[in-house]
Amino acid sequence: MKLSSQGYKGTRDFYPEDKRLQKYLFSTWRKVVESYGYEEYDGPMLEETEIYRAKSGEELVDQQSYRFEDRGGRDVTMRPEMTPTVARMVAARRQELSYPARWYSIPNLWRYERPQRGRLREHWQLNVDIFGVETIDAELELISIAHDLMSAIGATDDMYTIKVNSRQLTAIIMADYLELDGEKSHHMMKLLDRRAKMEQSAFEEEAMQIMGTQEGVNKLKELVEAKSMGDLPEQIREAGPVRQIQLLFTHLRDNRITNVNFDVSLMRGFDYYTDIVFEVFDNSPDNNRSLFGGGRYDGLVGMFGVEPVPTAGFGVGDVTMLDFLEVHNLKPEPRSETDVYIVAVGDVLRQAQGVARLLRQAGLNVALDISTRKADKKTKSGVAKHVPYLLFVGEEELNQERFILRNVKTQEEEKLSLEEISQKVKP
Ligand code: HAM
Repeated sequence: MKLSSQGYKGTRDFYPEDKRLQKYLFSTWRKVVESYGYEEYDGPMLEETEIYRAKSGEELVDQQSYRFEDRGGRDVTMRPEMTPTVARMVAARRQELSYPARWYSIPNLWRYERPQRGRLREHWQLNVDIFGVETIDAELELISIAHDLMSAIGATDDMYTIKVNSRQLTAIIMADYLELDGEKSHHMMKLLDRRAKMEQSAFEEEAMQIMGTQEGVNKLKELVEAKSMGDLPEQIREAGPVRQIQLLFTHLRDNRITNVNFDVSLMRGFDYYTDIVFEVFDNSPDNNRSLFGGGRYDGLVGMFGVEPVPTAGFGVGDVTMLDFLEVHNLKPEPRSETDVYIVAVGDVLRQAQGVARLLRQAGLNVALDISTRKADKKTKSGVAKHVPYLLFVGEEELNQERFILRNVKTQEEEKLSLEEISQKVKP
């Protein structure tokens, strides 16, 4: 039998160069969120299915979940998102935690989706959540972090847009402006969620099914064409949630964050969001899609039988961010974790091992090519592995206790003592 060397559909193998890029992304994320005082937590890969059923939305549970019965007959699901887990964890220690609790994690998540650009079946997601703050300052902080996450990978404001909406405003629009009942407004929200990916005619056709009259469809069109809060139909322009968004925008502007837009059709898929929602979009025509998003979800912690805790957060996927780096030419140059690659020239492997040991003791990461190939082949390996320095160790160098260090990028060579080498490589 011949086994396939392809991995499972929608998953990725991380070869060292891929892992290196992922590590760069994760360490950048960690640096940014920790600079705001967020603490790392983690949770299990499996949860009882019901915690997703409660508020994540039926699409996630019925169509996108990796779900099975364990040997004890429990209905379990591989985590498709982290939010129910973190809400459960906070609920379990509701009394002991000190608030505001600022937590982050980078779990791998599983969703049974049709693999396509930006969407896979396994992805990693930075989750940033703040517990215990009911004011708009939580959203302000989260959007500032989102903006800093983008700056930290080299993105400038023209490359992306932060779109903001409010679930409370949506509720007012559905009930008072469009006059839809609970079920119809649910369908309308799902339709608005898909609008950006639909042809206008298909959108109008489905809108007709929900609204029932052309007059109703026109009303909807007037609404979704609003480019700013000022364009909103008069009936809803003065609503409380609109003023909340305006306040948020004022604070964001004070923090010099200006690439934010109001978008009345921004829905975000989950049922648990209760107020402000936001999503970051790539402006590049080659990757015109959502990069990440989140919002306020005040009711979720309370679902676990404790007093509710006001909560807001967001999730950033690695797949969409790696696409962003690619499209905007922001990928860092590959650099190995290894500092020095030793090429032993001639029959000096044992002595070269001693040199490697001394350099490691001095704090360098050192790989010695222990293959029996010729020196030029070993040199090629070191270069291909993106090690920044090559060190040539031969008979003469050992006698002189000075070795040839080559900077791979500049091709400069110097004959140095071990101490000078460690100074040069890691000053
Ligand atoms: P989400 O919008 O489903 O939100 O996912 C957040 C981000 O994760 C997406 O914008 C995208 O970057 C990435 N993502 C999601 N699914 C996939 C996939 N199949 N393949 C690749 N990337 C994907 C949530 O999951 C919320 N729980 C986020 C949150 C945290 N809200 C509050 N706190």
